[in-house]
Amino acid sequence: MRHFTHLKDFTIDELDKIIDEAVRLKKAPASKRSSLTGRSLAFCFMNPSLRTQVSFSVATASLGGHPVTLSLGSGGTWGMESVEGTVMDGAAAEHLKEAVPVLGRMCQGLGLRSFPAGKSWAEDKAEPALAAFIKYSTVPVINMESASGHPCQALADLMTIRERMKPKGRNFLLSWAPHIKALPMAVPNSAVEIASMAGMNVTIARPEGYDLDAEVMARVKKNCAANGTKLTITDDAAGAFEGQHVVYGKSWGSLAEYGKPPSADPLFRKKWTISSAKMKKTANGIFMHCLPVRRNLVVDDSVLDSPMSVVIDEAENRLHTAKAVLLHLLASQPKRATAAARRHRK
Ligand code: CP
Repeated sequence: MRHFTHLKDFTIDELDKIIDEAVRLKKAPASKRSSLTGRSLAFCFMNPSLRTQVSFSVATASLGGHPVTLSLGSGGTWGMESVEGTVMDGAAAEHLKEAVPVLGRMCQGLGLRSFPAGKSWAEDKAEPALAAFIKYSTVPVINMESASGHPCQALADLMTIRERMKPKGRNFLLSWAPHIKALPMAVPNSAVEIASMAGMNVTIARPEGYDLDAEVMARVKKNCAANGTKLTITDDAAGAFEGQHVVYGKSWGSLAEYGKPPSADPLFRKKWTISSAKMKKTANGIFMHCLPVRRNLVVDDSVLDSPMSVVIDEAENRLHTAKAVLLHLLASQPKRATAAARRHRK
């Protein structure tokens, strides 16, 4: 049984094949509409979502399946515990050790969104809730954004790039941006990882102290070396835009000062906000962002409202790639949860 939880578990050929299927589904949305008949999927959210929630729900229904969306621990279901051996005398009424296998008896696939707590990167990096889902699940698990990655977003990102250019040899810039919160690193991690896998030259522009996780960067470095492409890390907020074909704007929190929001100094913000003046330096580059985005803080209206911005296409592609991920994971799985559960018990 295969999960879709981390990009590192896949080759670029496998990811490209999933995107090829998404491209076919985008052209023929009514095709494969019976592929998930008789299958139910539980999409579990520990944090807010618009695109991920709607895309997986609509994708499942469009393929003939039944989506169940759950807000874990926020009134919709019981509060969940993930730590093994803990005395459960706190807010959590149920352990994932029971909840996940129960969902697996009723559903043929599970999705989880679980953001980092923001207190300790070492603890967050262990992704306790996602790890528990993977450990206790008898059915495929989809990572709908964890502390370290957002592979579903990355698929839609690469699909969006492929719609406009052949990625190989093109220049991809991840530009850090200001924010009022210390945001997770999942999206920027996955964005640079998939760009490096796809054979793009990768530049990361960020202030000092905002380097991405070393393990992710080691994989990006290895991918660039294998593909003969360049990896550049810079604090030149404007100069980094020179000659870029893709600009991916995103804020993330500092690992050096974990959990602390970025500076609100107006000059610092102005330096890092993505503007038309910066975009003019690119090689007719496109602007990407996973959304939601804070206008005139992360990126100026003049960029978001211009033809340079592909953020709505990028969001739409979440639907087509969600369908492709579901088909990839479930097409060869048994229809009844009980069959999977029986195998698990043997
Ligand atoms: N990009 C993304 O994952 O959007 P949501 O947080 O709204 O799901």
